[in-house]
Amino acid sequence: MKIFLDTANIEEILKYSFIIDGVTTNPTLLAFEKTGSDIHDHITRITKIVNGPISVEAISQTAPELIHEAKELASFSENVVVKIPMTEEGIKATKKLSDEGINTNVTLIFSANQAYLAAKAGATYASIFIGRLDDIGHDGILVVKDTVEIFRQHNLKTQVITASVRHPIHVINAAKAGSHVITIPPKVLSLMFKHNLTDLGLKRFLDDWAQITNKTGT
Ligand code: E4P
Repeated sequence: MKIFLDTANIEEILKYSFIIDGVTTNPTLLAFEKTGSDIHDHITRITKIVNGPISVEAISQTAPELIHEAKELASFSENVVVKIPMTEEGIKATKKLSDEGINTNVTLIFSANQAYLAAKAGATYASIFIGRLDDIGHDGILVVKDTVEIFRQHNLKTQVITASVRHPIHVINAAKAGSHVITIPPKVLSLMFKHNLTDLGLKRFLDDWAQITNKTGT
């Protein structure tokens, strides 16, 4: 399972560049960074840090406008993947863009049927928002499991991105469900490194080592 970082923050991307395979942004995350309406420079900076797919969202509503906007975003870098909303117009645009070789990430997917349509249209990625499903009392990871199974059975090449990740258990569950990619917020990624027993164990090893070196006078 590949790890993408779910952020538009340059410092966080730099911090975790040693472990991540790509980045996903969205309009909310870009708004946090106060990039203004000209996101070209910001995205270009990200593409220089991470040599992998960088998702950037198109915000148009109709297929022709989405296609136009997607082509502009894709022209930033060959690593840009254009996020397209999961609507009828979005899927129409996805079909055309994938026919023209532009990488797409269909976003705001909440059911296996939506993911199936994205795959039929040739999307490179389908982003399933599990945290938002859990928030309303559904089982987000079940949608990931079903989608992975459907894609496998029908030999669909679209990769599932588990998105809207809230905590480290989501990561374990996504990996067990066979998700191809997970996009993780920096806060959750930082938690994945940690365990109290690691900290305690390390402290004890260091204390014991200090005793040995004191005894031998080295
Ligand atoms: C994915 O590409 C989205 O940017 C993201 O995972 C949405 O997560 P949220 O539900 O925490 O906003």
